[in-house]
Amino acid sequence: MNDILPQQSPAWQQVEAVLRQVAASYGYEEIRMPIVESTDLFKRSIGEVTDIVEKEMYTFDDRNGDSLTLRPEGTASCVRAGNEHGLLYNQTQRLWYMGPMFRHERPQKGRYRQFHQFGLEAFGLPDADIDAEIILLTARLWREFGIADQVELQLNSLASNEARATYRDALRTYLSQHEEVLDEDSKRRLQSNPLRILDSKNPDMQAILVNAPQLSEYWDDESREHFSQLCKRLDTAGIKYTLNERLVRGLDYYNRTVFEWVTTELGAQGTVCAGGRYDGLVEQLGGKATPAVGFAMGLERLVLLLESQNKIKSQASADVYVALMGEAAELAGVDVAERLRSELPNVRVLMHCGGGNMKKQMKKADKSGAAVAVIIGDSELENSSYTVKPLRDQTGQKSVSWQQLVEYLTATIAEKS
Ligand code: HAM
Repeated sequence: MNDILPQQSPAWQQVEAVLRQVAASYGYEEIRMPIVESTDLFKRSIGEVTDIVEKEMYTFDDRNGDSLTLRPEGTASCVRAGNEHGLLYNQTQRLWYMGPMFRHERPQKGRYRQFHQFGLEAFGLPDADIDAEIILLTARLWREFGIADQVELQLNSLASNEARATYRDALRTYLSQHEEVLDEDSKRRLQSNPLRILDSKNPDMQAILVNAPQLSEYWDDESREHFSQLCKRLDTAGIKYTLNERLVRGLDYYNRTVFEWVTTELGAQGTVCAGGRYDGLVEQLGGKATPAVGFAMGLERLVLLLESQNKIKSQASADVYVALMGEAAELAGVDVAERLRSELPNVRVLMHCGGGNMKKQMKKADKSGAAVAVIIGDSELENSSYTVKPLRDQTGQKSVSWQQLVEYLTATIAEKS
């Protein structure tokens, strides 16, 4: 679990601002769910025989003896909240959320035990038009962030539950013929969840899978048509994708569309964003049958990717540094800084504290990253004037009135931000 330190938080704030703005521009509304839910919710939705439920959840009994879990993802909570508050039945909802998730995984670059997701879920819409919309939304995000060339879309259809069950049997039969060469993980999954063997990272398993039956051979007609409608829309919008028949996802609730945006820039943890359709989950969790589709992206991975591409604008902590020379100025300075903040609310004003000579104060002003120092001393107080000293160019300092000071800061800072 990580601290996000002051020097990293501008990157997070920039990312979060773009996510909020783009989600709003597609008409999605924010929902905030609790971080702790009943353990049963995740077992029923993500699936008992998934890595998350089998070995990654932070689960504990509370004082009443109820089993609670720190949320490992947001979709289950979102559906629970939708059912509980009657948001889903006979309605469409476009929702997004952002916040910490918890999985007890082996930490490494891009994989943490507390991580953050931006997630987005659309309810009540069965057709491929909405699948296309959310993929277009993600593609817009990559353009906004300037990383469209660094991510690649992989797409698959898990078809209907029935089609997948038939395929699961065929895959199990095939893999059983190779049981003696399966690795431990795959042997374990052979009975419980053989589809997960498809995305095994072990090259030996991948070699065995070359001749395995393909999921697309088992697609039902409606799912095939749904997938073709999605591809048509992506083609029209100019979104490139690769069909990856081994893409099955690690959570059990999906059917039909599944997708992942992956990058090669982050090493092993290259999936930046992942999601798909889960038409059965709302009913499975006690609501009326409601189609749904969504995705979540890992914000740590997104920030790492943006940093690796130098897409984060570095940000100073202040715009204006108020330097105060002498006791009288120290008293008057508070009022000057307060008036500046009232007059120019978007300008960040750092007032010098702790006294000291001009050299010391200018050193601090420089370190703060401020573009301008406003200096107040005895002569300024006497003349009701302010000395403005640009810190990032050679323009030289000048003495100005209050009105001129406000105009100067408006032109050089407020209107540029
Ligand atoms: P997921 O594939 O488990 O899907 O997670 C989505 C994304 O969260 C991953 O692609 C990755 O970027 C990030 N992520 C997952 N685990 C970690 C970790 N330990 N450290 C850092 N980042 C991580 C879901 O969670 C689904 N709820 C997505 C969804 C929403 N499907 C439909 N709606």
